[in-house]
Formats: sequence, structure tokens, C-alpha cells
Amino acid sequence: MGNTSGRKSEHIRICLEEQVGAEGVLTGFQKYVFRHNALPELNFDEISLQTIFLGAPLRTPFLISSMTGGSELAGVINERLAEVAEHRGWALGVGSVRAAVEREELAATFAVRGKAPSIPVIANLGAVQLNYGFGADECMRAVEIAGADMLVLHLNGLQEIFQPEGNTAFRGVLARIEELCRKLPIPVGVKEVGWGIDGMTAKRLHEAGAAFIDVAGAGGTSWSQVEKFRSADPVRRIAAEAFADWGIPTAECIREVRASVPRTALDGGPHKKGFCPLYTSRCG
Ligand SMILES: Cc1cc2nc3c(=O)[nH]c(=O)nc-3n(C[C@H](O)[C@H](O)[C@H](O)COP(=O)(O)O)c2cc1C
Repeated sequence: MGNTSGRKSEHIRICLEEQVGAEGVLTGFQKYVFRHNALPELNFDEISLQTIFLGAPLRTPFLISSMTGGSELAGVINERLAEVAEHRGWALGVGSVRAAVEREELAATFAVRGKAPSIPVIANLGAVQLNYGFGADECMRAVEIAGADMLVLHLNGLQEIFQPEGNTAFRGVLARIEELCRKLPIPVGVKEVGWGIDGMTAKRLHEAGAAFIDVAGAGGTSWSQVEKFRSADPVRRIAAEAFADWGIPTAECIREVRASVPRTALDGGPHKKGFCPLYTSRCG
């Protein structure tokens, strides 16, 4: 159990010190440019970026996607992210709360509400944990620990395969997500961790009751690269390296998801499930 906390610290160190960016795959945003409009017919002062995300107002349509928690350093990072998100009016996700569900003493490292009293906060767990003993009670405990309004489950099959301690039994996860979406009194979203969610997958998740999708496409952080740096096994490192260009570019994911799933009820209140494909926190 203590391993989860150690792994989180290692992830932070590797992301800070090593080249963990995807190689040979771009986000896809490079293909888009704004076209100049010489006659905008609006007043600059009236432009507002404010939006509603599952019933909660956001001053800017940005989300800091799930990243960390579970160690002292992670707690400091979460605190700082919370301050920034609150100041700017963004939504804030914390990293996987599994470590604190398993070890109560780590709970404080996810407790961002003190610094972020007014913005939407999103708790996070791995969807695969639903196949390893986590159910509605553990999920609600994670939400309580983070003081969250909603939960996002991450799909990270490739990362689990490259982790020596990975949980790789993904069969049946969709049915468990569906059951969880039905049971929990809060919105449950689904995210990837950097390889993207395509239109067909988004449709299945939407039909299962997912309230929102964070496509987390390729072109930014590569988790096979992160796991490559964690591994001492030369074969595993070579295998991980081969996936440096893997994944669906974020811009492609967004187009597919938009085409496959209806956009509904975004202003329906925190307990009514709408659908909004979110952009990852770092789109460039
Ligand atoms: C240090 C670090 C830790 C992360 N931890 C988690 C996590 O606990 N749970 C999760 O769902 N995603 C986690 N992610 C993945 C991000 O939420 C995001 O989906 C991914 O990094 C792709 O976005 P990017 O290309 O902008 O980095 C983490 C990312 C980083 C950089």
C-alpha cells in the first residue's frame, strides 16, 4: 500500500527531471489558426469567458487535470494548484486519491478545499480499481477526502502494463463504470492519461452514464516515457520507448467526441448529468 505514495513521488521527480514528452506525435492544435474578422460587430468589454461546467460557474473554461497527491511534496503542489485555480476561477482535479483511501494519514495531501473554496473540485481514481475491490463506498470516500463535487475515473491501460506493479485486469470495467454512474449521487466523468479517447469510446462511456469526458490526448506527457524512466528492466525500457509516439492527438479526439456524443444539459445543476468533452490542462 505504501508503494502508491512512493510511486507518486517518483512520478513528480521524473516529470520534472526527464524528457517525458511524447515524441513523433503532436496534439494536433498546430493545424488550427483563427481567421481574422475585420468586422466583429461586438464590444470588446462585453466579451466574457465565463461558462457553466455541470452546473458550476467557471470564470475561464479551464481545468487543471488530475495530477497529484499522496506525498508531502504532492500536498504542496496541490495546495499551490488550488490557490491558482481559485484565483483564476478554473476547475481543479486532484490526482488519484487511492493512496489516501488506503492510508488515512495521506488524506491531508488531497485536501484542497481550504485554498479553493468556490471552484469545482474533482476527485480521481483509476477505473481499473473497480476491478480490484473499489466500489461506491471507496469512491465516495475519495470524493470526501478531496472535498470534491464530482469524480473522474482514469483509463490508463497502457500505463498499467508498463508499471511493474500495474493492475492490468481491465475486462468488465465499462459495466462497473455504468454501475458506479448509476449509484453515485454526484457526476462521474472519465479521462485518459495522455493517449486519448476516441469517438466510439466516448459514445460507450456516455451511454454508460459518464457525465463528462477529459480526452487527455497525445502530444503532451507520455506515460510510457515516464514508466520507461522508472524501470530498471532493459527489455521493459525498450518496449516502453517504442510507445513514445503512441496515442490519438488531442485535437482529433475532441473532433471525434463532439461528432459522436450529443452536447446536452451543461447548465443542469451539479447533480444532473450533462456532457462536456473537456480539453486537457495543457493544450499547446
Ligand atoms: C506528474 C503527473 C501526475 C499525474 N497523475 C495523474 C493521476 O493521478 N491521475 C490521472 O488521472 N492522471 C494523472 N496524470 C495525467 C494528466 O491528468 C493528463 O491526463 C496527462 O498528463 C496528459 O496531459 P498533458 O499532455 O497535458 O500532460 C498525471 C500527470 C502528471 C504530469
